Amino acid sequence: MEGNTSKSTYLPETRVISGMRASGKLHLGHYFGALQNWVKLQKDHQCFYFVANWHGLTTHYQSPEVVEESCMDMLIDWLAAGVDPQKSVIFIQSQIPQHAELHLLLSMITPLSWLERTPSYKDQREQIKDKDLSTYGFLGYPLLQSADILMYRSTWVPVGEDQAAHIEITREIARRFNHIYGNDDKTKQRLDQLLKSMSGEEQKIFQAKRRSYLEQGDKSGYADAREILLNGNYDPEDLLILLGYLDATGKVILPLPQALIGEFAKMPGTDGRKMSKSYGNTILLRDSEDEISKKIKVMPTDPARVRRNDKGNPEKCPVWEWHKIYSDDDTRKWVDEGCRSAGIGCLDCKKRLSDRVCAEQKPFLQRATVYQDDKAQLINVLEDGRAKATEEAEQTLKQVRALMGVGI
Ligand code: TRP
Ligand code: SF4
Repeated sequence: MEGNTSKSTYLPETRVISGMRASGKLHLGHYFGALQNWVKLQKDHQCFYFVANWHGLTTHYQSPEVVEESCMDMLIDWLAAGVDPQKSVIFIQSQIPQHAELHLLLSMITPLSWLERTPSYKDQREQIKDKDLSTYGFLGYPLLQSADILMYRSTWVPVGEDQAAHIEITREIARRFNHIYGNDDKTKQRLDQLLKSMSGEEQKIFQAKRRSYLEQGDKSGYADAREILLNGNYDPEDLLILLGYLDATGKVILPLPQALIGEFAKMPGTDGRKMSKSYGNTILLRDSEDEISKKIKVMPTDPARVRRNDKGNPEKCPVWEWHKIYSDDDTRKWVDEGCRSAGIGCLDCKKRLSDRVCAEQKPFLQRATVYQDDKAQLINVLEDGRAKATEEAEQTLKQVRALMGVGI
């Protein structure tokens, strides 16, 4: 397929953006829940990954040291996991002040009720009692996130299920923006001309697909209609007008992103509950072999196996859940049979597991050493990321400022 978008740098063909709140060292829950996917996405997309340290402040404004320290730790963890600075743009949110500017500008058109009804806002206000979250910053959390995303005119946003509502708000805000600022008379006239210039057959198919998308939410209809436009050899500006027509808004100034919700198995912690810092049941991405094996040694097992020759049942044992993730079929068979017949002891079983986990994490540690030993390398990565992100951010903001009458 030859898309015409390559002529314009404004609308990237496929771009991914995601961020993580600064919140301490990362563990395997973060790896399986997000990072592993980030690493994979680098293969086929242009990816932007950033530390959302301003978002960290919305809940940790009273602990600036936590926000500051987690920033660098998180970056090294990403690089350790395989986020590749040669392929992806890696940066820190607060180094791109344009995020704050876009946040402010978008706040002018964002109805208060959209923010007040965000499920995460309501839930967290109720759940988190030890912090005062009745701040302006906390209410604006999803809007700042929208600015992060819309800034880079991204197509895909890989996030967990819990973030789906934020991506939905982001789409609503983009729609509203394009509707308000992308509907001047010149644009409307041009749209008329463009629609008239489509051939009869093409026009018919395009309109049918568009209707099926707008009236029934048919996503494949949307994809087909979009494909027709991308293959139409349009001038980049015209393409933005037509794509906006497809969304029934106005000319596309801020493209509508889509959530890429990962379906990940929840990584269990070493005690079988969900892995979480607050339960103290984590294995960190950069734990040493010693630390890993120590943590695995004390994992609880099937309570029925008190003595070495008591038979057990893997289904009642958190160690087994880990074998399911880390071990191959042969090992799993060895565990299942050996546990049920008391042919193996729990320590043998755990030793095999820790060997596997250590082997998986060895490359993480190797990649991390480069950056731990030489901070200048990390600074270089960030400097590169800052430069590329700023360039993209300015492209969007130039348009937004001009359209909102503050471009002088
Ligand atoms: N809210 C996200 C989280 O808690 C972090 C985040 C901030 C983000 N800005 C973003 C994620 C932009 C994706 C895109 O996980
Ligand atoms: Fe768990 Fe393995 Fe012990 Fe069975 S042998 S109880 S699976 S640790």
